[in-house]
Amino acid sequence: MKVGVIGAGAMGSGIAQVFAQTEGYEVYLCDINAELAAKGKAKLEKAFAKRVANGKMEEEQKDAILANITTGTKEICVDADLIVEAALEQMDVKKKLFTELMAICPADAIFATNTSSLSISEMGNGLDRPVIGMHFFNPAPIMKLVEVIAGLNAPPELVDKIMAIAKEIGKVPVQVHEAPGFVVNRILIPMINEAICVLEMGVATVEDIDAAMTLGAKHPMGPLALGDFVGLDIVLAIMEVLYAETGDSKYRPAAMLRKMVRGGMLGVKSGAGFYTHTK
Ligand code: 3HC
Repeated sequence: MKVGVIGAGAMGSGIAQVFAQTEGYEVYLCDINAELAAKGKAKLEKAFAKRVANGKMEEEQKDAILANITTGTKEICVDADLIVEAALEQMDVKKKLFTELMAICPADAIFATNTSSLSISEMGNGLDRPVIGMHFFNPAPIMKLVEVIAGLNAPPELVDKIMAIAKEIGKVPVQVHEAPGFVVNRILIPMINEAICVLEMGVATVEDIDAAMTLGAKHPMGPLALGDFVGLDIVLAIMEVLYAETGDSKYRPAAMLRKMVRGGMLGVKSGAGFYTHTK
């Protein structure tokens, strides 16, 4: 099966790895220009080289996965059987991408989006073919879950097909009905927002909030470290969707979160967030 992954950022390249390392799958990793797509693949190559050096991956395995990934712009997806879109979290950007892809991809191609919180029904509305949610978690090669979200225009066979593909690539799919933030982000992102409120109120320091949640709740990383890892712009965007969609003040983004995003403190990707991150 040929899979076109649209967006070669952290999520897109992680998703590309997941498919490319599974027998029977070939990947087209795409971005708005060929250089950005190649950059996404180069990042994978660098991470694989580290894993080879640490004895966690065979050199041949590394070469085989990389050989399975072709990079370019979305036009290389002309014979793709499945599209997984992991581009900017903007409805108009995603709708435009799907419109253009539907015009060039085979008649029986499947179209999936990795959106973290946008409405799948709205995304599919007005398009020639259905769109389904296939939501991976960061880091995609490690996290086992895939949320499969059917919007109003997704037929049940499409849900079954995506559930089967998710299992084939070694993930555990969970079927989710469309709702703001689906399941994980509805619960996880407000927790990160709450941790920021706790920090804002001066209840504890960044380090102590994270220590409390890793040691007291056995989370793999503290909520503020996780916010930096996911990207504070993404955290804010998801909180905005939860707040706007529900009108419930419990989803109001923390003022400190807004301020940090406005000031370009986005976490790992910008080098500064609740922690300082060096390359
Ligand atoms: N490919 C395959 N395997 C890899 C890999 C890669 N690129 N990189 C690492 N691994 C393997 C490692 O070899 C290791 O395997 P081993 O146990 O057999 O040695 C295993 O994966 C764990 O790797 P690390 O030791 O590097 O990682 P840590 O144990 O330090 O854990 C973490 C890192 C997985 C990020 C962990 O801290 C964690 O689970 N954090 C929480 C992440 C989370 O909550 N993600 C969800 C965010 S929300 C989201 O994504 C939704 C979106 O819409 C916003």
